[in-house]
Amino acid sequence: MSDTKQKLFLQALKGENTKSIPMWFMRQAGRYLPEYRELRANKGGFLDLVYDPKSACEVTMQPIRRFHMDAAILFSDILVIPHALGQDLKFVAGEGPKLTPIRSRDNLSRLSSSNFESCLSPIYETLRLTSSALKEEGYNDVSLIGFAGSPWTVACYMVEGSGSKDFMHTKIMAYSDPEIFGALIDMVTQYTAQYLIKQVEAGAEALQLFDSWSGVLDEIQFQRWVIEPTQKIVELVRKVYPDVPIIGFPKGAGFNYLPYIENTGVNAAALDSQTSPSWASKNIQTKMPVQGNLDPFCLFAGGDGLFAEVNRILETLSDGPFVFNLGHGINKDTPISHVEQVVQMVRDFKS
Ligand code: CP3
Repeated sequence: MSDTKQKLFLQALKGENTKSIPMWFMRQAGRYLPEYRELRANKGGFLDLVYDPKSACEVTMQPIRRFHMDAAILFSDILVIPHALGQDLKFVAGEGPKLTPIRSRDNLSRLSSSNFESCLSPIYETLRLTSSALKEEGYNDVSLIGFAGSPWTVACYMVEGSGSKDFMHTKIMAYSDPEIFGALIDMVTQYTAQYLIKQVEAGAEALQLFDSWSGVLDEIQFQRWVIEPTQKIVELVRKVYPDVPIIGFPKGAGFNYLPYIENTGVNAAALDSQTSPSWASKNIQTKMPVQGNLDPFCLFAGGDGLFAEVNRILETLSDGPFVFNLGHGINKDTPISHVEQVVQMVRDFKS
């Protein structure tokens, strides 16, 4: 395939300045879409949807059919890794994920990989089905993204047992017992790499690593629990698939974005909304493609402010390799008309 024929999103991730700006939105498949809410209500729980390949493929396709985004992201969750390692997982409506916390060596020894692949096989099937659906429905220009959580963020949920504002138990375990915590991180790292390799085998054309809680760590801890495991995953995936683009999203990393992009080996950096686009254009985009970074609440609010902000991001980042996205997942009450407006603005934009 010649470069001009290659999908716009993949061109940008290869470092090209594309003739128009590719885009997708984090959490683009989800509760702000009535067609998602309907399927979710019929299916029962969130995990029932995730582990049902036909439904998960359908949900992955929903934002493509509505907005023709440049990339479809696998409908799944970062917490399927602990689940596949035998940790109990439930999603409680209005409260988010609940897991049985891992706080000791004994708790850790109860994890097991014996059902790992059988638990995740429906997810690979979702990728195969979606890869075919994209072709069958004529979306030959749309790329398919696979993903996983980064070990630090996944371990945060495994240790805490739920979301948290500061991940206190996880941080204390990392400081007080780096050996046990390191064993947990190593296990998640190894299995996440295996999972991502299988995702590529099943049709994922690019991968994103979500590190939503990397911002709670100081620079030493960031090096040990974010950079090193991420670098290991990139290395293991690259051994099998040297060319698959990997986007890193160290949300909240601030100053630590620089050592992250210099040392992990990722191909592209997803920017959170706190990162200044003009700073990123000088300090990150000169080294690798960037993706981002509209504040999901600016999208929610709409109006002139939204118009100005989308323009500012496009003007600042479109001179280098760039994928338009949000700085975090879309909020469930976001008006669809605001998404439509932004999609149109990005489509119409010429740098
Ligand atoms: O982006 C996409 O459209 C792909 C699907 C996707 C989901 N979760 C679906 C989902 C992706 C990439 C994720 C990643 C994820 N999951 C992260 C990293 C990104 C981030 O948001 O920081 C994290 C931390 C999780 C863990 C998780 N999953 C939480 C904390 C929650 C509850 C919060 C919430 O929004 O309800 C989930 C549930 C979840 N994951 C939903 C969706 C669509 C909502 C489920 C529902 O009730 O229907």
